[in-house]
Amino acid sequence: MSLLNQQTGPFYRVRACAKINLTLDVFSKRADGYHSLASVMQTLCLHDEILLRIHAGPGITLECEVPEGSAVPADSSNLVYRAAESALEAALAAGQTSWQRQGQGVRILLRKRIPTQAGLGGGSSDAAATLLAVNRLLGLHLPAERLRAQAASLGSDVPFFLTGGTAVARGRGESIRPLPDLPRLWLVVVKPEENVSTAWAYAALDSVPERASHRATHRMEEALQAGDQERMIAFQSNDFELPVFARFPRLAWLHDELTMAGARTVHLCGSGSALYGIAPDEAAARAIAGRMEGRFPFVTAVCTTTRAEADPFASHFPAC
Ligand code: C5P
Repeated sequence: MSLLNQQTGPFYRVRACAKINLTLDVFSKRADGYHSLASVMQTLCLHDEILLRIHAGPGITLECEVPEGSAVPADSSNLVYRAAESALEAALAAGQTSWQRQGQGVRILLRKRIPTQAGLGGGSSDAAATLLAVNRLLGLHLPAERLRAQAASLGSDVPFFLTGGTAVARGRGESIRPLPDLPRLWLVVVKPEENVSTAWAYAALDSVPERASHRATHRMEEALQAGDQERMIAFQSNDFELPVFARFPRLAWLHDELTMAGARTVHLCGSGSALYGIAPDEAAARAIAGRMEGRFPFVTAVCTTTRAEADPFASHFPAC
């Protein structure tokens, strides 16, 4: 019987949206080993679902439902577990101890839909949604600044998901500036068999000789502020494409397949291995996905979300 079938205490069901990077400029490696970057990030309707319940017993219990053929650890190595733990630690540090005195813990069920090692930010998004949900579930009242610090300590992409929608990330990814919502875009996301490790991708970028610093993010921000859809499509770029396509030629081939199937522009998601292709409209996105289905482990037609829709607790969410 699922842990969540035990009907005690308040219960939350939250969404954790995937993301793409409309631009991803990676600059130099810093003294702390991370790279400075600039990226326009965008949430998608593709999402995981997280169910949380207060438990009359201490500690955190995590259960995962994953699609056939994929594996996600349901232990303390999972970012969901670590996010819940980090919210509880922050609460204790702030003197919020009533849940502990009452011997309460948290039970969590993670329903995974976002493919892992795809560059879609699934683990980071789960972590951000869990931070917000545990904060609300146990009435911890952690201030936004504290949540942002906890998010950054969990991973470079986690702070973006506290904001969602369209936003610029700088620093190592933790410095977030929200941008106005884009008009809805339809796209196709394809994850091939290959997996790309983020740490490997950054190291591979460092070994590219005479790497130029791109200004795609800056140009993209200008296009977005001006509401210029054509330039917004044209300015998409991702610095990881050069080393990742060189190491995984099948991804370069998939790029061309998506273009030939009708995508207007195709780019790598984060450091890969998934690719996204922007479609002219919803019908075209579904037609392109139909042409790719059965040939790759994960193919889906999705749309971008607004900031309000990307809120884990949002009551209105696009059907896609
Ligand atoms: O922060 P996160 O744990 O997601 O990063 C995973 C790895 O990606 C880091 O260990 C580092 O090797 C690399 N990374 C980086 N610069 C960034 C973000 C990540 O070098 N800005």
